Amino acid sequence: MISLKDITYKYHNDDAYALNHISIDFKRGSFVSILGHNGSGKSTLVKIIMGILLPTSGAIFIDGKPVDRDNPLELQRRFSIVFQNPDNQFVGATVLDDVAFGLENLGVPHETMVEKVEAALKEVGMWEFRNHEPHRLSGGQKQRVAIAGALVTNPEVLIMDEATSMLDPDGRKEVLSILKKIHAKRDTTILYITHDLREIEDSDYVFILRKGHVVNEGTVRDVYEDTETLVSSNLELPYNIKLSKALCDGAYMSYEEVVERL
Ligand SMILES: Nc1ncnc2c1ncn2[C@@H]1O[C@H](COP(=O)(O)OP(=O)(O)OP(=O)(O)O)[C@@H](O)[C@H]1O
Ligand SMILES: [Mg+2]
Repeated sequence: MISLKDITYKYHNDDAYALNHISIDFKRGSFVSILGHNGSGKSTLVKIIMGILLPTSGAIFIDGKPVDRDNPLELQRRFSIVFQNPDNQFVGATVLDDVAFGLENLGVPHETMVEKVEAALKEVGMWEFRNHEPHRLSGGQKQRVAIAGALVTNPEVLIMDEATSMLDPDGRKEVLSILKKIHAKRDTTILYITHDLREIEDSDYVFILRKGHVVNEGTVRDVYEDTETLVSSNLELPYNIKLSKALCDGAYMSYEEVVERL
């Protein structure tokens, strides 16, 4: 669906490249994770994909057609994004207003808007909170509202840019399980950005970024089995991965396989 060919980007002339000859493809309907330590270029890559930044060199293709560099809106229409800090993205006084905002901007008729907002809030389990102030919700609830706001315009791609990194473990689980449900139910492509290896287990495909380079890519099993690259990319190996490698002579086992083996 989206293909980035040899993308480089530097913020200012004198800076080092934030992205270095990145080529990435992802399929429509897939759940793709981009994993990398602080400053590895994840958010820069997201901005390029969304058409917010123009690459210094390289090209982007959608369904095989090059994206018109002079028309970044062509990209932006297709994407919705949920950011890291839930408090920075609310615009409405109530949960309901907030989720309706994106549709108001598109000039959607009132009746359709009411239906869509209700459906989106029910999808993330936040309908009963519709009259609450967004700022008074828990971190996980805030991100669920942000996901509803992102989904209500029916984007082709939902981007989560470290959207769970400020949440406690329960909040993380809550958000990841909602995402899994959404992915199973709709054909939305999900681009999941994280620095946390524990969060990629359900991805169809994973890219690892280090200092603006893609240093590994493949299935979850492929990237977990190359421990050296994970360590040299400053990614912390979670306990279950260390355990699975110890039990299985360095090979990776999924959570279920570890339980089975134990
Ligand atoms: N607005 C900017 N101006 C100049 N340099 C920038 C700017 N934004 C990011 N950079 C630099 O580009 C590189 C990549 O940053 P980016 O924000 O894409 O990384 P990231 O992987 O998203 O990091 P984090 O995990 O902290 O969110 C870093 O070296 C960073 O210092
Ligand atoms: Mg970032």
